[in-house]
Amino acid sequence: MKNRLIKRILVVAMIAACSWAVISAKTITGNLNVVPQPYSVTQDLEAAPFVINKSTIIAYPEGNAVMQRNAEFLASYIAKSCGFAPRVAPESKAKRAIVLAVDAGIGNSEGYRLKCDKNGVTITGGSEVGVFYGIQTLYKSLPITKDTGNVAAVPAGEVNDMPRFTYRGFMLDVGRHFYPVEYIKEVIDMLAMHNINYFHWHLTEDQGWRIEIKKYPRLTEVGSVRKRTLIDQKTQTYDETPHSGYYTQEEAREVVAYAAERHITVIPEIDLPGHMMAALVAYPELGCTGGPYEMPCRWGVFDDVLCGGSEATLQFAKDVLSEIMDIFPSPYIHIGGDECPKKHWKTCAKCQAKIKELGLEDTAEHSKENQLQTYFMGEVGKLINSRGRKMMGWDEMLEGGLAPGATVMSWTSPKPAAKTARLHHDVVVTPIQYLYFSNPYHNGRKGIKSLQRVYNFEPMPSELTADEQKYVIGTQGCLWTEWTRDTVKVEWQILPRMAALSELQWAQPENKDFNNFLQRLTPLLKVYDSRGFGYRKDLHEVYVQCFKCKYEGKSRVELTTLAGEIYYTLDGSEPNKQSMRYYGNIVVDNGVILKAVAYRPDGTTTPIATEKIGATVWTE
Ligand code: ACM
Ligand code: ZN
Repeated sequence: MKNRLIKRILVVAMIAACSWAVISAKTITGNLNVVPQPYSVTQDLEAAPFVINKSTIIAYPEGNAVMQRNAEFLASYIAKSCGFAPRVAPESKAKRAIVLAVDAGIGNSEGYRLKCDKNGVTITGGSEVGVFYGIQTLYKSLPITKDTGNVAAVPAGEVNDMPRFTYRGFMLDVGRHFYPVEYIKEVIDMLAMHNINYFHWHLTEDQGWRIEIKKYPRLTEVGSVRKRTLIDQKTQTYDETPHSGYYTQEEAREVVAYAAERHITVIPEIDLPGHMMAALVAYPELGCTGGPYEMPCRWGVFDDVLCGGSEATLQFAKDVLSEIMDIFPSPYIHIGGDECPKKHWKTCAKCQAKIKELGLEDTAEHSKENQLQTYFMGEVGKLINSRGRKMMGWDEMLEGGLAPGATVMSWTSPKPAAKTARLHHDVVVTPIQYLYFSNPYHNGRKGIKSLQRVYNFEPMPSELTADEQKYVIGTQGCLWTEWTRDTVKVEWQILPRMAALSELQWAQPENKDFNNFLQRLTPLLKVYDSRGFGYRKDLHEVYVQCFKCKYEGKSRVELTTLAGEIYYTLDGSEPNKQSMRYYGNIVVDNGVILKAVAYRPDGTTTPIATEKIGATVWTE
């Protein structure tokens, strides 16, 4: 009797607790204006949204394995944001469903239409790939409700979307520092979230050869290991710790498959004939001098490169690329071509004999050694073409004349992009000045200024005609890892700059607005947090930048932060809400000490930023 009474009390208490939880749960409606900004968004934040709860079903067309996987991705994303995975099921007429469908009538295979009302969501893609991007938009539109007791909802509305460029790339250099397969997969997850469809994997470098080649085992046995690493340029300090690592062919295939599931193509790069010290150490006969060579432990461009006149060296390059093409189904195969000094080629008997045999002569535009490089890369290119693929290389390829069908990556500046397009070759725009996320000189800005530098870059050269513009197939960000020893720094460098990059790649230029981007960025940072992706935290500090101005002895000063309202002083005192409020550019005498602080919406403050005006002056 007593037991029954206790049970009844417990049941009543449980019902009360559950009802309280339901009553206290708030519905948080997301926003369909995500990063990258979709082509068009209409949403009604006053209308009843679609609430995602445990009865929500994700439906896909029966028998379509790719769509089933798309549905499973969406379920897994919702689990990360909301704390539970909706059920995935073939075709459903059930209410409360997110219905995925393909309709070629959408007109763009990467495009999609997303419609939402209180009864459900439909994502219709021009192909399965378009559906995947619609899923990314839905995912990024959701608030993070996991562990909050709140409920997520999608606003009533419609998105019609498609990308600006068909090539949307990101490059990671694993030669200077090696990152394991599990981390490469995480980077691929980051790319997927930003609608990036090409992962350019820079697999070989002077300081490390990172991909197994079965015919040349010493490439990884010897060429993937260096004794130590330069960690401070100024003091020439080395870490005195060996660095090594490479991917087996099986692991590389695993990465290719992982990326393909996320509709990403992996472009392998074997960088030749320069940046080949690791190969020369493994096989000294590949060089002009025959060595001996030593694995470099510092950074830079090295005079020792592959011999451009040796038949055996050319065969080596073809053998390596042949194995690479067996692993990577990518339509593009990148063979580098950058930073190849011709010092040894000028005196090497084999190189000079080959130049003579080919009848190469110096011209006003191309030295004969540069033309020898074009010949060497062109021969490898023929093999690539014979396998139905396209050769890709850095813009130095222009120096010796472009090999037929070559696709160029314009890195030294935006200018080679225009030159390439005018030669009617495809080009990917990736200038060091804007899209190298690792470059301390060009991209050393902090906080949100680091994003603005990327965001305000326009990849399409304005001087091209409409016909020439068709050769600009897209744009790419690159991370070179000389000074990037760990994944914490990788993420600091690439996030959220990748978000700014994605807007260059995907959004229409007329839809781009930096301040609007910053508003859309805040929810994206929460998604990063929910995924455990690190990103540069100085976005939420105050960053002071001085620029030259027309008044003698003064600087134009910009203060930026994502944190909130900024207050500053010019007399060395601690700033607070009684200090001057920063509304925009100010002009300040050089030598003055400026102190600034930002107040977050919750009333807390950022650390105080202190800057001697004019000590560092930036150009725009
Ligand atoms: C490059 O940055 N050397 C392509
Ligand atoms: Zn040579």
